[in-house]
Amino acid sequence: MQVISLVNKKGGVAKTTTALALASGLSKHNFHVLAIDCDAQANFSTASGGEDDVVGSFDILTGKKNINEAIQELPLYHLIGADKRLSSRHEH
Ligand SMILES: Nc1ncnc2c1ncn2[C@@H]1O[C@H](COP(=O)(O)OP(=O)(O)OP(=O)(O)O)[C@@H](O)[C@H]1O
Ligand SMILES: [Mg+2]
Repeated sequence: MQVISLVNKKGGVAKTTTALALASGLSKHNFHVLAIDCDAQANFSTASGGEDDVVGSFDILTGKKNINEAIQELPLYHLIGADKRLSSRHEH
């Protein structure tokens, strides 16, 4: 298994665009892809067609849920989605 992380503190530098291209491109080349969105904006999850208001990366990172409960099976790849609870400004 290989892990590819796309992380940059600077905004608008194409993190999400790159992640979408990698996830779909690798899937089309028959790699099994699990994409984990850890950005509170959840742009990757939305653009991938993930469901809202489901178990996501916040629940895994905080130990509230088992990882298997968070995996969404999308047509091209699997997704663990993000939501605004990941933001420190969000009231939990
Ligand atoms: N290769 C590229 N050439 C030109 N523009 C690009 C390229 N890749 C992405 N962009 C544009 O750059 C902008 C920011 O891209 P993106 O949303 O992927 O960045 P981001 O790092 O995820 O931003 P954020 O920090 O807000 O999450 C978008 O308008 C996108 O269309
Ligand atoms: Mg982004």
